[in-house]
Amino acid sequence: MSTIRAVPIGVGHYLPKRVVENAEFEQWVETSDEWIRGRTGIERRHFAAEGELTSDLAYYAAIDALDDAGIEASTIDAIVLATSTPDQTFPSTATKLQAKLGITVGFAFDLQAVCAGFAYALTTANSLILSGQAKRILVIGAETFSRIMDWEDRTTCVLFGDGAGALILDAQEGSGTNDDRGVLSCDLNSDGTYNDILYVDGGVSSTQTTGVLKMEGQEVFKHAVKKLASSGETALDKVGLSGDDVDWIVPHQANLRIIKSTAQKMNVPMERVVVTVQDHGNTSAASIPLALSVAHKNGQIKKNQLLLTEAIGGGLAWGAIVLRW
Ligand code: ACO
Repeated sequence: MSTIRAVPIGVGHYLPKRVVENAEFEQWVETSDEWIRGRTGIERRHFAAEGELTSDLAYYAAIDALDDAGIEASTIDAIVLATSTPDQTFPSTATKLQAKLGITVGFAFDLQAVCAGFAYALTTANSLILSGQAKRILVIGAETFSRIMDWEDRTTCVLFGDGAGALILDAQEGSGTNDDRGVLSCDLNSDGTYNDILYVDGGVSSTQTTGVLKMEGQEVFKHAVKKLASSGETALDKVGLSGDDVDWIVPHQANLRIIKSTAQKMNVPMERVVVTVQDHGNTSAASIPLALSVAHKNGQIKKNQLLLTEAIGGGLAWGAIVLRW
């Protein structure tokens, strides 16, 4: 039976110019390249320049995705932007991006689910397309986590970086089978009883400050592997697929050990897992579209291949999406 599918037609990313290698942190905190590399797989990350905003990063990623799709910005009728580090409390970073792209029609809004932001944004965009609310959506993850780091806390400041990734989804006719290109299934979850293992200690209605990131790393780690594997399996199960059918897992890029353990739990060998964390650290909501864009550009992921993306972050919030590229 024919159905509408949200099909990827373009992908792009942007990383700020300033590259900070692990060894640079040795000037600020007691750490080493060896520790960071060994415990996380991270080798370097990018930090936005002074005055460079989340909407700037989002803009460059969007331009890259529009180029990749070979379409004009004016054909986009919705922007869904996932971020926890918006330019301002309001207006939304999505409407700022809309203005930068010269778009004055359709609608744009931000969505916040921390590191799971892109999974939530993709699911939301898919629903908007399936319900006929929009035909062509720019889905963005953009972050400047360097703005919310505690530079004296070695357990967190070495983990995060800035960046943006963008994916354009287009409403296209499908056959209603798993052979269709586009989003095939989504699985979202959250459990607010874990608010206090990963949070920012400031906010508009609480402290009227921005705050800095606080994390109980080991606790988050434990939840991450279990919840990511379980959500990935649920998303695959919804459409009668398993880890064996997946060409590539494109996971949230937080920690190589989490990526490896999750893939192992799902019986997917590392040869079929996209890993980019070494080059940009944890860029929160930007990490999945960034990884998609890098893997698309270097020819790893190819048209018609089956992808599974999964992410977890503050909330806790987590989810997984199955899509055919
Ligand atoms: N350099 C050197 N030593 C360090 C550093 C550092 N940067 N950071 C911590 N250590 C020390 C600790 O103080 C501890 O020392 P101690 O034994 O003397 O107390 C030791 O290293 C071991 O610390 P652990 O916390 O046990 O290290 P672990 O192996 O758990 O790695 C890490 C820590 C990398 C944070 C890991 O727990 C992790 O990746 N957690 C998950 C984080 C994550 O994925 N978050 C995703 C969501 S983020 C979001 O949503 C915004």
